[in-house]
Order: sequence, then structure tokens, then C-alpha cells
Amino acid sequence: MASSNFICSHQIYSSCNGKTHFNSFKKASFSIPSSYKFQHASCFERGFRYSRIRATASDSKTGKKQVEVVYDLEDKFSKLADEVDKNSGMSRLTLFSPCKINVFLRITGKREDGYHDLASLFHVISLGDKIKFSLSPSKSSDRLSTNVPGVPLDDRNLIIKALNLFRKKTGTDNYFWIHLDKKVPTGAGLGGGSSNAATALWAANQFSGGVATEKELQEWSGEIGSDIPFFFSHGAAYCTGRGEIVEDILKPLPFDVPLVLIKPQEACSTAEVYKRLTLDRTSTVDPLTLLEKISRSGISQDVCINDLEPPAFEVLPSLKRLKQRLIAAGRGQYDSVFMSGSGSTIVGVGSPDPPQFIYDDDEYKDVFLSEASFITRAENQWYTEVSMDAASSPMEFSIVVSMDAASSPMEFSV
Ligand code: C5P
Repeated sequence: MASSNFICSHQIYSSCNGKTHFNSFKKASFSIPSSYKFQHASCFERGFRYSRIRATASDSKTGKKQVEVVYDLEDKFSKLADEVDKNSGMSRLTLFSPCKINVFLRITGKREDGYHDLASLFHVISLGDKIKFSLSPSKSSDRLSTNVPGVPLDDRNLIIKALNLFRKKTGTDNYFWIHLDKKVPTGAGLGGGSSNAATALWAANQFSGGVATEKELQEWSGEIGSDIPFFFSHGAAYCTGRGEIVEDILKPLPFDVPLVLIKPQEACSTAEVYKRLTLDRTSTVDPLTLLEKISRSGISQDVCINDLEPPAFEVLPSLKRLKQRLIAAGRGQYDSVFMSGSGSTIVGVGSPDPPQFIYDDDEYKDVFLSEASFITRAENQWYTEVSMDAASSPMEFSIVVSMDAASSPMEFSV
């Protein structure tokens, strides 16, 4: 039987040596039987994600013509269903729920209420969860499910808290079935739960026809968590107070700067980290100077100050060693290496790859690894998932298909 060869760029979310690793590959090839039809993408291995692309098809008889090649059928069906929902009153919605990093995090004082004031450059990044919302027939409770164990599914979960808050503030009575597809690790300093809450508020507002403004959603969200209001910025903001005072910055960080996130299995308890914080050990640099320096010259090691590193490194001494080893082994590979939030994620800026010791050393066999990039959102739109390939380089895609031995080869390229 004749076979066809595919050569394409693609992206894989895989588990490698026990490590969860989000990776990009430039090229790969597959052999498939000649009976393959383009619209039947299901013959591919599960786990590969494909973009929908426009391709130019040509053969020697008919010349060139445009065809649409759909590689992500689930996405296609989802979009079709959303179209149907648009016409018949919305009943379901799937949203991306991205996480954040703190490019710098200065603690500027202790407050009367026991909390600390901070001054931080928050930035949304491309790693995120997916949340599916469906309107429930119930008028008394939401139902939450998730793909990972250990996440509370009752009203301790920030998604349920956000939906309760929305109903309280607006007097609406929509309840939901929610499925949370989690990729962002918890206890990581990445604001995954806060993002989920912001996304739930955004979704509830869409279902109710937009009764609240973005500003109102932002203000209300501060009642259930200090990091939530940030997600109603455009994705890059200077945050003060407990984090709830949010000022969008004019110049987000470049989308093409690659990041690597490395998080050991151990989480850092925010409460524990703040308990060990002593203000005389914090930096004395004016956070506005850091902000100005970053907007002028970009990210470098000296501007990525996180005052929570010393107490977090006391809580988790292995984290300090990880940061030191990344800086040493990176040998200039990274523009900066720092901890995000109260930990335990260490971020490397300037390369999507971890140093080799992360793969080789037994101590790191269970770490969470992901590459990422900075993202933002447009006015009146929620964040959307970006392809890592699209973020890092122009998409390169070519397919050469020999349909069978008798017919002439067709070439597809974009
Ligand atoms: O934000 P979260 O509720 O996770 O914070 C846990 C604890 O960390 C708080 O109860 C408080 O003691 C401390 N914290 C703080 N200042 C902040 C944020 C948290 O002191 N800005």
C-alpha cells in the first residue's frame, strides 16, 4: 500500500521522564495510509494539537487553488456550536484562563490589617487552563469538575466564589456546570486560581448579556482575592496595595521573548512566606525606577527583584539552590532568573529551554516544566491561547502528499 509523508511544524504537550513539559518542535514527519482523507484528522495520535491553516493546493492538471485544512476538529465543532448558541441564546462558553508572573515584586510595608503592601509588575503569560461553562437548569447550585485531583470543587474554589459574587452583585440567577482543564500548577506563584476566578466573572457576565462593565468586574473581584483584579487589565500592569490597585502599563513586554518556568513539586504557602518576611531584608530600590528601567531597556537580572525570595528560600531551601544552579548553568542563556510571586516557580527569561541538569539530575525528575511567552488581551475580549510556534517564530509548514502510486504528487505549502 502506498503511503503518504507529512512534514509539519507542530506543538506537543507531553510527559517526558515524568516531567510535564510544554515543548515546541520545528519539524516532524508521519507516515499515513493512502486512504487518508484530509478532513479526518482523528487518525493522528491523541495529544498533538493542530492549528487551522489555509493551504495552497496544487497539482499538475488543475493548477493552484486554495483549500482549508482543518487540523483541530474539536476546535472547529466548538466554534460551530458557539455560532449556534449565538443565535439561540448562549448556553455554553469555553475560555482560556492564563496565568501571570511577577517581573519584579517589592514589598513596601506592613498594613494595619495584617497584610503587606506591594508594588509589582504583573504580566500575563501564555500558559493557562481551559474552562468550559454550560448554563445549568439548576437555580440553586453550580457544579464544578476538573482533570486534576486535590482541587476543591465546592465554594472554597475561587471559581464558585466568583460566580457567587457575580450573582450577589448583579441579582442574576444563572448557575453553571463548569469543567476546569488545569495546566497551571497550584502553589506556584503563578496566580492560576486568581485567573480562574477572573475568567469565571468574565463568563458569567457574558451569559447575562454584559450587565457589568469590565471596571465593575475588576472592582468586585478584589473582594475575593488580591491578585484577581490584575487579570482585568490588558495583561501588563503595575499593581500596588495588596495587588488590587491596577494600572495598565503602556508598553507590554515583547511577545517574542521566550520564557521557561520551572517548579519543583513542593508548593510554597503564601501565608508561610509572608510570615517569614522581615522588612529590613527587603530591597530599597524604588519600584517606579524598576518599571522605568524595564520600559527603557527590557528585562535584566538587576531589575527582577522579588522581596519574597529570601523568606521563600527559607521555607524551601532547595528553591534557592535551583535558582543559583539555573544562573550558573545557564551561562548567559537567560537575561534573568527569578521567583514569581511567593513561589515556588522559578522563571528564566530569554530561552524556552531549561539547562541540561534539569533532565539529568534525579533531584529534578518531578519538576513541572513549561515554556511560555508574554501575552495581552484586546479591549472587550478575553485572553486567547496562542500557539507557541506562532509566538516564537513565523509558522513554517509544508506537506508533501503522494495520494497513491498512480497519481501525481500534490504539494501543499503555506
Ligand atoms: O492572598 P492569600 O490569601 O493567599 O494570602 C495568604 C496570607 O499571606 C494572608 O493571610 C496574609 O497573611 C499574607 N499576605 C500578606 N500580604 C499580602 C498578601 C498575603 O501579608 N499582600
